[in-house]
Amino acid sequence: MKQTGFFGRKELLFAAIILGLYGCNSTEKITQPIAYNHSIHVSEAGLYCTDCHVGAETKIQATLPSIKRCQTCHSEMQGESKEEAKVVEAVTNKEEIPWNRIYTLPEHVFFSHRRHVTSGKIPCSDCHGDVEKLTKPADHQLVPIQMKRCMNCHDQKSISNDCLTCHV
Ligand code: HEC
Ligand code: HEC
Ligand code: HEC
Ligand code: HEC
Ligand code: HEC
Repeated sequence: MKQTGFFGRKELLFAAIILGLYGCNSTEKITQPIAYNHSIHVSEAGLYCTDCHVGAETKIQATLPSIKRCQTCHSEMQGESKEEAKVVEAVTNKEEIPWNRIYTLPEHVFFSHRRHVTSGKIPCSDCHGDVEKLTKPADHQLVPIQMKRCMNCHDQKSISNDCLTCHV
């Protein structure tokens, strides 16, 4: 009985992987609707990563911030930039900014932020690079998501590299 269940999952895994191969498009450059600046917010405004990516310590997904996170400071102009004016406009109209995702995984891979950030104590920069230094949005994954990278670290830290640890 156990065996049947296992092969059932494996077949699903390979079916999903084949679908994943067709969905792949990782060389495309990503642009954002507003030229957000990480450096100003982390170094000058003194915000923590988790003030905006509120799920990073406690949830599977780190999440991108809703407009509510911006409204505390941007209901009025703080400076004079055109990019900030777009944020003030979105706050005034209570509109979400349609950010584009840079880091995504195929459907058949499971990854949890809480597990890595809180239990594993891995810094954001190990997987995302020096985000706090960015003065404009990244247009690609600064640290590319690769199965090889996941597995190298798991090897070093003696975490399971069984296919079904990551593939669901
Ligand atoms: C004031 C809110 C805010 C703070 C603080 C903040 N970020 Fe962000 N972050 C954003 C916004 C908005 C985006 C989307 C625009 C962009 O990519 O620049 C983003 C995008 C990202 C992305 C790309 C995610 C994806 O797949 O699209 C990563 C990774 C990231 N931030 C990591 C960090 C880290 C690490 C820190 C702390 C050093 C941090 N952020 C601090 C607002 C914030
Ligand atoms: C061990 C590697 C690793 C670490 C550490 C890590 N991330 Fe991620 N991050 C990922 C992966 C992989 C994805 C893609 C996840 C997906 O598609 O479900 C991602 C996606 C994101 C995204 C896109 C939105 C989302 O909800 O998936 C943001 C924002 C982000 N990470 C921020 C952070 C911040 C902030 C930290 C530190 C507090 C952090 N990450 C730590 C690997 C990591
Ligand atoms: C704690 C206060 C605070 C929060 C919260 C905040 N910001 Fe800012 N933001 C600032 C400050 C301070 C500046 C610098 C203004 C200046 O001097 O030009 C700024 C500037 C900006 C600029 C102009 C960047 C540039 O290079 O000129 C943009 C765009 C921006 N913020 C977007 C956002 C977005 C989007 C959010 C919500 C996800 C957000 N901010 C949340 C304080 C904040
Ligand atoms: C820099 C090191 C590092 C990287 C990179 C990394 N991991 Fe991990 N991973 C860990 C550590 C450490 C743990 C154990 C955390 C704990 O103590 O719970 C873990 C645990 C896990 C678990 C839970 C394992 C279990 O036995 O329950 C999964 C699933 C996982 N990682 C998936 C991934 C995926 C998918 C990637 C790549 C996108 C990845 N990891 C990249 C270090 C890493
Ligand atoms: C530590 C996590 C982890 C483990 C363990 C793992 N994988 Fe992966 N695998 C990933 C991630 C993340 C991706 C997506 C990124 C990529 O293609 O490199 C992936 C992608 C793949 C792909 C390519 C599919 C595509 O969409 O391009 C195949 C095939 C695959 N894995 C098979 C396996 C097999 C077979 C095993 C067991 C020997 C295994 N994986 C173990 C994390 C893992």
